[in-house]
Amino acid sequence: MATAFRSSSSSTILPILLVAAVSLTAAGATVTHLHFFWHDLVTAPNPTAVTVTQPVDPSSGFGATVVIDDAMTEGPEPSSTPVGRAQGFYVVVSRNASDSSLLMAMNLALTSPEYNGSTISIMGRNPVLNHEREIPVVGGTGHFRQGRGYALLKTYSFNATTGNAVVEYDVYVTH
Ligand SMILES: *[C@@H]1O[C@H](CO)[C@@H](O)[C@H](O)[C@H]1NC(C)=O
Ligand SMILES: *[C@@H]1O[C@H](CO)[C@@H](O)[C@H](O)[C@H]1NC(C)=O
Ligand SMILES: *[C@@H]1O[C@H](CO)[C@@H](O)[C@H](O)[C@H]1NC(C)=O
Repeated sequence: MATAFRSSSSSTILPILLVAAVSLTAAGATVTHLHFFWHDLVTAPNPTAVTVTQPVDPSSGFGATVVIDDAMTEGPEPSSTPVGRAQGFYVVVSRNASDSSLLMAMNLALTSPEYNGSTISIMGRNPVLNHEREIPVVGGTGHFRQGRGYALLKTYSFNATTGNAVVEYDVYVTH
């Protein structure tokens, strides 16, 4: 049986827990639910998100390309237990700053004991100003071979001064 990494919610006093969150579909495939926080750190001296092409339109950011090797952790604090790295890139693909959206393409390279070495590939549209976004899971390797599914994203915190963001992910993979 697989397990998913989860954290306590702010409404409880439970410590961070590893909770099984696996169910079987009618066809006998497994659905695994992973819950973690994604840290997009753009500030020096050790950014994990680096802008490699500057925007053609600074007001919207249109055209900016950011390469990432972002930490994934069980809880929202940077010091929380790491569960993997989100490696890939995102591009600002909206001209309209009021409807800002990214194309995201990344591999979740998992390092938690139960999934160490497995990956989940995610690609899709991320309208970052929306409360909740959905991005397709387009594949996986190892434990998640032939995986399909979706990721639900909610911004946990965004520092407008630094540009650093923490995003809560709920990823559901059928495999
Ligand atoms: C920009 O997006 C906002 C929010 O979706 C919308 O109200 C506005 O009409 C858009 N502007 C243009 C020029 O498309
Ligand atoms: C994950 O795998 C790597 C490479 O095989 C190994 O060095 C590392 O100790 C493993 N980590 C865990 C938490 O099992
Ligand atoms: C944003 O980051 C700056 C610089 O590190 C820090 O001084 C400030 O307190 C942060 N703002 C929030 C709301 O965390």
